[in-house]
Amino acid sequence: MAAFRTLDDLGDVAGKVALVRVDLNLPMADGRATDVTRVEASAPTILELADAGAKVLLLAHFGRPKGMRHSTMSTSLVQGDLERVLGREIMFIPEVMGPVVEQSIGILRNGDIGLLDNVRFWPGEEANDPAFAQGIAAHGDFYVNDAFSAAHRAHASTEGLAHLLPAYAGRAMERELRALEAALGTPQPPVAAVVGGAKVSTKLDVLENLVGRVQHLIIGGGMANTFLAARGVDVGKSLCEHDLTDTANRILDRADHSGCTVHLPYDVVVAREFAANPASLRTVNVHEVAADEMILDIGPQAVEALCDVLKTCRTLVWNGPLGAFETEPFDAATVALARIAAALTQDGSLISVAGGGDTVAALNHAGVADQFSYVSTAGGAFLEWMEGKPLPGVEALRA
Ligand code: 3PG
Repeated sequence: MAAFRTLDDLGDVAGKVALVRVDLNLPMADGRATDVTRVEASAPTILELADAGAKVLLLAHFGRPKGMRHSTMSTSLVQGDLERVLGREIMFIPEVMGPVVEQSIGILRNGDIGLLDNVRFWPGEEANDPAFAQGIAAHGDFYVNDAFSAAHRAHASTEGLAHLLPAYAGRAMERELRALEAALGTPQPPVAAVVGGAKVSTKLDVLENLVGRVQHLIIGGGMANTFLAARGVDVGKSLCEHDLTDTANRILDRADHSGCTVHLPYDVVVAREFAANPASLRTVNVHEVAADEMILDIGPQAVEALCDVLKTCRTLVWNGPLGAFETEPFDAATVALARIAAALTQDGSLISVAGGGDTVAALNHAGVADQFSYVSTAGGAFLEWMEGKPLPGVEALRA
């Protein structure tokens, strides 16, 4: 962590203008955010700066407006959610640079918070146009990035600004980087990775990276079927990318050579139709899947074996559910393994880091998200980190 400047490295900020990149890309329904976790994550940074007397200007994207103003994607739509979480009034500023921003800064008192409009309304954001970044930077005394979940984008507000102003990792970014370092940077071995989800094709780079880094790779979800098929198992009408058989075999070979044990299920939960509690539900050995059945979860024996694996590990990184967890009873394996991981974490024997897409929903469903060491709210950024790729927004913060 020494490589990043944090808020601890800031001197007196009273009266200074802090440009703070946050992630306000919140899921919405009926004009309100349905999940404010990202705002809660950045609240400590925003309040710390405001309480120290800075004028805090929040900078964020919201949706993908592709360089044009859209009333449906204005950050003003999340102003109310922000105010509720922060417990402070916020001034909405419908620009990101220019006289309106300058006048607003004049009106803000020390410790006040302003919310700039969606930075993606301007094409210079995604193009990482230096002139655009300079236009924003001109208003600030320093830059804080607290949006790990947008750090895989090399955009003006996530990357460009860090080169134009003194740049600091916010508290949420700092926590995230610490957790990720503990999970895959310099982890305590043995390390287990759980990788689930529908398709191998979306996680090829993740798998390739992990087999060289972890001692146990647990593959679940639809993607396990592709690996089973590569091993010669008839997976019936399960979701399976048969064209990726060679790729799956190559990953399995690489794992062999790197001393990584790949865990595929040996019993599975199958059904002839994908519905809640279907009449055709069966738990079978993977070699007994009928031609008209599909695999929808891994079986209880496999789960028990995986629990034993986790008990021998010190570190766990988890991305993706093990089965079709949104439909009962195909949530059973994900819930059982998540609860074991949570219990081991609470006992102090496991460091557990999870993130990406469905993973947070799956852990919430299991009721254990708050019992993991760290759960990332990042989607794409978490995956790119698991792929071992440098994240431009993080790299630009390196002191
Ligand atoms: C996210 O929601 O994962 C981040 O805010 C990034 O959004 P993006 O995929 O539109 O860049």
